[in-house]
Amino acid sequence: MFDAIRKILLEPVYFTVIMKRMAVLASGNGTNLQAIIDAVAAGKILGEVGLVISDRKSAYALVRAEQSGIPRIAMPRTRENRESYFTGIKDAIESAGCDFIVLAGFMKILPDDFVEHFRNRIINIHPALLPSFGGRGYYGRHVHEAVLESGARITGCTVHFVSSEVDGGPIIEQISMPVMDNDTPDTLAERIHGIEHEALVFAASLLMSGNYRIEGRRVIRL
Ligand code: GRF
Repeated sequence: MFDAIRKILLEPVYFTVIMKRMAVLASGNGTNLQAIIDAVAAGKILGEVGLVISDRKSAYALVRAEQSGIPRIAMPRTRENRESYFTGIKDAIESAGCDFIVLAGFMKILPDDFVEHFRNRIINIHPALLPSFGGRGYYGRHVHEAVLESGARITGCTVHFVSSEVDGGPIIEQISMPVMDNDTPDTLAERIHGIEHEALVFAASLLMSGNYRIEGRRVIRL
C-alpha cells in the first residue's frame, strides 16, 4: 500500500503539451510582433510563433524574427503573383504548421476566401476603439486624424477576430486612453502603440488558450 503511494508520488510524470502555433503577418517595424515574441519567451502566451510573413522585404519585423530564430518569409505582391498571392501565404502558413494568424500591422486586406478558410482563427490589432474609426481607409495616421477631427475625448486600441467586414469581426480586447488637447496624430499613434502591445499579448494568449466562445459579435471569456 505504502509502496504503491510512494510509486505514484515519485514516478516521473510524462506529458506532452502540444503548443498551438501562430503565424504573424506584419508590414512594418514589428513592435507588436516583438511584444508577442517577448510574451511567448516569458511564458505569458502558451503558444509559439511558427512563422513571420511580411509583404515588405525591408520590414524590420523580418529582422526581429531573424533575431529570435523564427522562420520568416518576405512575400511582396507583384504583377506576376497577384492572382496566387494569398494562396501562397496560406500554403506557407500551413506548411509551417500554424493554425492561427495574428495581423500585427499587416497593410493588406485579406480576401474573403482566405478569411473563410481561417474562420475565427485570424486576429487583428486596430489603433482605435471599434466599431468607431474602422473600415476601409481607416489605417495608420488616417485613424488618428479622424479621431482628432471628430472631437472624441477617448480613443484606444482594439483586437478583434477578422471577418469579411473590414475591422468588423468580434472584439476580443480593447484598451482606452484619453485624447489630450495638445494631441496630434503622431502623439496619439505613439501612446496607442504602448497599449496595443498589452492588448495584443492578452488577445493572443486568450486565442492560444482557447478559453473563449464567440456569440454573434461578442467574445465571451470562459
Ligand atoms: C499598429 O499601430 C497597428 O495598430 C497598425 O499597424 C501598426 C503596427 O505597428 N495596424 P508595429 O509595426 O507593430 O510597430
